[in-house]
Amino acid sequence: LEQLEGKQTLSGKRVIVTAGGTREAVDPVRYLGNSSSGKMGIAIATAFAKAGANVDLVVGNITTAVPENKLINLHHVISTEDMLKQVDQLFDGSDCLVMAAAPADFKLQSSFDQKIKKQPNQTTLTLTFTETPDILQTMGLKKQHQLVVGFAAETENLLENAASKLERKHADIIIANDVSKGVFGSDNNQVYLLQKGQEVEPWPKMSKEAIAEKLVKKISQKITKNN
Ligand code: CTP
Ligand code: CA
Repeated sequence: LEQLEGKQTLSGKRVIVTAGGTREAVDPVRYLGNSSSGKMGIAIATAFAKAGANVDLVVGNITTAVPENKLINLHHVISTEDMLKQVDQLFDGSDCLVMAAAPADFKLQSSFDQKIKKQPNQTTLTLTFTETPDILQTMGLKKQHQLVVGFAAETENLLENAASKLERKHADIIIANDVSKGVFGSDNNQVYLLQKGQEVEPWPKMSKEAIAEKLVKKISQKITKNN
């Protein structure tokens, strides 16, 4: 019946989806983080599972519940480097990677072994950060048969910045997302789909669940083409 309804189109496929924000340690009790809820990535993982795919969901810090699903294998990570390691370990055996996570772009150049103490009369604190690895770009450069999908969260020059991410990260698809008006944690979203050498597709404003379903449909067409 499910096959008749066309719902199990991805059975036998393995996909990796990342969600949520990563955290970089400052000292034993503090971290640098961001306010990603994980909602988009979890919606994508759920849509993939609904289509019959086996999903490895790699999550950092999330404030959205992950639904119980036999096809969703949950992996918890803390930092951007942890997330890269986990994704890299799963990548060879996968058909698709969707980077919906918000990895921290910077980590402390050297984190503190002990809790940072305020000094008498101290009014400022200066910390030096250094860049974290770019997971999407690393996998984009490494991909064989895998379809590699990323997001572009922008507050200005949306399409221009998204197009440069598509190119720089060797992604097959970028979903461009205007985050200037509080989409973090929100339910509705208007995005654009970018693919190399193709017209930009504006998608109507819809829920993150609807975006997830539309994206999974798009990905299904691409990863089931050759078999
Ligand atoms: N991404 C990643 N590894 C990072 C940072 C980002 O894999 N260290 C991925 C995100 O998951 C997303 C895409 O790259 O799919 C774009 O993330 P975004 O934050 O929009 O872009 P950045 O490349 O980090 O650039 P900037 O934040 O300066 O716009
Ligand atoms: Ca970033």
